[in-house]
Amino acid sequence: MSINYNSTYYLVKRLTKEYIIIHWRTFAISIALMLVIAGTTSFHAWLIKPALDSVFVEKNTTALVFIPIVVLLVTVVKGFATYYQLLTMNLLTMRITSDMRLRLYEHFIRSDIAKLHSKSSGDMIASIINEITSVVGLITTAMNGFVKQFFTLGALILVMFNQSVELSLVAFIGFPLAAYPIYRIGKRLRNLSYKNQEIASKFNSQMSDTLQYSKLVKAYHCEDFEVKRMGLIVDSAFKMAKKISRISLISSPFVESLAGIGVAAVIWYGGHQVITGQTTPGAFFSFFAAMMMAYKPLKSVSNMNSGVQMGLAATTRLYKLLDEKPEIVDKSNAIDLPNVKGDIEFSQVCFSYIEGKQALNEVNFKIPAGKTVALVGHSGGGKSTIMNMILRFYDPSSGVIKLDGYDIKDLSIKSLRSSMSVVNQEVMLFDDTVLENIRYGKVDATEEQIIQAAKLAEADEFIQELPEKYHSKVGQNGIRLSGGQRQRIAIARAILYDAPILLLDEATSALDPISEKLIKDALAKLMKNRTSLVIAHRLSTVIHCDKIIVISHGQVVEEGTHQELIDKNGMYANLYLKQFEITQD
Ligand SMILES: Nc1ncnc2c1ncn2[C@@H]1O[C@H](COP(=O)(O)OP(=O)(O)O)[C@@H](O)[C@H]1O
Ligand SMILES: [Mg+2]
Repeated sequence: MSINYNSTYYLVKRLTKEYIIIHWRTFAISIALMLVIAGTTSFHAWLIKPALDSVFVEKNTTALVFIPIVVLLVTVVKGFATYYQLLTMNLLTMRITSDMRLRLYEHFIRSDIAKLHSKSSGDMIASIINEITSVVGLITTAMNGFVKQFFTLGALILVMFNQSVELSLVAFIGFPLAAYPIYRIGKRLRNLSYKNQEIASKFNSQMSDTLQYSKLVKAYHCEDFEVKRMGLIVDSAFKMAKKISRISLISSPFVESLAGIGVAAVIWYGGHQVITGQTTPGAFFSFFAAMMMAYKPLKSVSNMNSGVQMGLAATTRLYKLLDEKPEIVDKSNAIDLPNVKGDIEFSQVCFSYIEGKQALNEVNFKIPAGKTVALVGHSGGGKSTIMNMILRFYDPSSGVIKLDGYDIKDLSIKSLRSSMSVVNQEVMLFDDTVLENIRYGKVDATEEQIIQAAKLAEADEFIQELPEKYHSKVGQNGIRLSGGQRQRIAIARAILYDAPILLLDEATSALDPISEKLIKDALAKLMKNRTSLVIAHRLSTVIHCDKIIVISHGQVVEEGTHQELIDKNGMYANLYLKQFEITQD
């Protein structure tokens, strides 16, 4: 069954189920307090009748004492009720905001790589902050605003009808006329809110991209260009805000005029009734006060409409987002492999990132447990894609990938991924200490183990020279370290993780030849008793591998040992010869 995410009924029902019912106690308290507030407010209006008629007209001295005391008591009650009601709602708002933020963050972090890569991080952060603010705004506006104002309005209307049915009808005669324009305005606002979101999204990704790559912006002295580009986005955001503002406020003169008509009509008609003696001045003023008080919530209800429409639009987006289910998940009967040996087999694996453009085309190969296998070939051939597939970041469109004889789709993702240490082409470091960056994924590692891993990765030496050694912060994405240093930290991380399978995707590409040689020995030791898959551009580093697989245009073109491939005089021999010539030059 497809869901109509634009249906107000559906959105309200779901929000109620997920966020209101679980907090029903708090809402109940809040509503009870609102009833008190509504009751005390309308009581004030009602009190005008005895005050005027008994005190001022009949000159009743008991009433003179009694009525002020009642007024005082009621006011104090109203004050406290308002305080507790607002406090309860504020606390609840914060609670729901925190819950939603965590829920959305969790949704993002558990999404498939393909989904995550299709969004900008700035955009996701903005969703977590802005969208949720609008959605929670909707809940609180609805509760605080609608419920309270409706109660107050209801109670006041009761007082009005109680005083005079005829006058009440006169007072509200114009209001049904406002319903249609308010409905139209609401629809328009909801549409604008979607467009507004697109602009906000552009703004966020532009902002996070250029701030993250400030080095690029400066090196190509594009500050002016970026400011101008951002200026255009900011400008369209401003125009959109102006439009929204205009439309959301347009209901105000409408409602205001209708109220004016009501007031004028009531004065004329009611005045006439008092003059002809059909009603008392007390009854009239009580009615009049209730009416004036009733217009306020009535006006705010119509003004709240805009916030509500934007909130509903945000709720639509939020639920669409949350309902996107990841495709790469454990099967219900997923197998946990406790001792992975590391036999990897690709049979007839096809895959495409984008429809119609195959990244892997019927790939077949075997990596026997404990062996070291290299993937080589021109860039863009599909080597990194093969690693992505082994990690099950993507599922093949056809064909099977096996680990120790099991289709990796049948294994639990946890047991699959925890059997692999990975060092990627692009090193990923958090803005945290060196220690925590190496420890990532192995939370229980001791400091000694971490230092040991760093030593093996030839990283200890430069870390000792950092201002706070292992406790130095590396900056966002390791900005405070050199490319080679970053790579060594990533290697230390993989060494510490100590998984039976090692995946190295150009893990030493940023190292100078000397550091590379040093690390090669450490890596050789590491590879010794585990299955390793190595992608390397410098073919000198793969000569000793047990097997070399040459990948080109998403296909395996040759495989064998270095010597076999040289003898074969095919693509590998060609590549090797070219690199050899370059290094000789
Ligand atoms: N996330 C992605 N989305 C779309 N296409 C991609 C993505 N990653 C890689 N590709 C494409 O897939 C092909 C293989 O890329 P890759 O496996 O990274 O090559 P390499 O052999 O250099 O590691 C390339 O044509 C590349 O453009
Ligand atoms: Mg690659």
